[in-house]
Amino acid sequence: MGEQVSSFVGMLREICEKHRILLQSYSGNWAHRMEKDGKTAFITGYQFGLNPASVQEICKDKALTFMMLSDRGIPAAEHRFLALGLHLLDETLGEYLAQCEELLKKDGKLVLKDNYGTGGNRVYLIENLREAEETLRKIQGFSYAAALSPYYPIDAEYRVVMLRGEPLLTIRKERATHFENGVLVLSEWRHNLGQGAKGIVETDEALLLKLHSLARRALEAVPAGFASVDIIRVGADLMVLEINGGVMLEHFSSQDPMCRKQALSVYEKAILCMLD
Ligand SMILES: Nc1ncnc2c1ncn2[C@@H]1O[C@H](COP(=O)(O)OP(=O)(O)O)[C@@H](O)[C@H]1O
Ligand SMILES: [Mg+2]
Repeated sequence: MGEQVSSFVGMLREICEKHRILLQSYSGNWAHRMEKDGKTAFITGYQFGLNPASVQEICKDKALTFMMLSDRGIPAAEHRFLALGLHLLDETLGEYLAQCEELLKKDGKLVLKDNYGTGGNRVYLIENLREAEETLRKIQGFSYAAALSPYYPIDAEYRVVMLRGEPLLTIRKERATHFENGVLVLSEWRHNLGQGAKGIVETDEALLLKLHSLARRALEAVPAGFASVDIIRVGADLMVLEINGGVMLEHFSSQDPMCRKQALSVYEKAILCMLD
């Protein structure tokens, strides 16, 4: 039996073979070095060498991304930075809970998350102050900061993969549903593909224009060369939820051969861009 590799690594190998690029992988296929005609390029995790380190740090930090975008007048989902540090002081906790109370009064719900999380892990829907306190303490156990976000009744979430200002792929993330006592309900409130949502290639031209224009503006404010911009629609409003400097199409590419082809083409363009 051959070596089991992720669909991402399988795609890298296929692209490098096609273009006669020398590919060397390290640390259990976490890091990759590519070489062609005396030029080299690197990928670590899902980070391609197309984003400056400072921009990568901004993308990883949900509250900082929000500040950078909103300061440039770009609609973005609010994320407040809550520093937790090694010890959560009573006074600090009290101040954070006051902010939570204000949001709970307004919307009935709020969202707390690890400010540096990915994949929908450590993202919590909060409905009362007791949950807020428990969750802040929980996040403090594994992260230096939480992000506090008002609850947005999201009608749809999209991912726009952008390479040097050009949209390469736009998908809508459709959450799974199931029947409960004869009623159709959501199986999961989050839109992450790693949490069961399905990626569907968006084809509505009018909507694509709006999504691409917002994604472009977002990457003018936070200049990542290769990134996916996650955008939510709430009613008629589009807002950037987050920017991922690592372009992860692992789940999407595993959905079916057409999706794999689309993901392959995205990664191929990014790799050729790095070796250009
Ligand atoms: N403020 C919010 N209001 C409503 N839903 C949210 C909010 N923040 C996050 N979510 C839901 O949680 C999911 C994961 O949140 P996100 O900030 O994208 O974290 P991650 O980086 O882990 O994907 C989103 O796809 C969305 O469905
Ligand atoms: Mg997300």
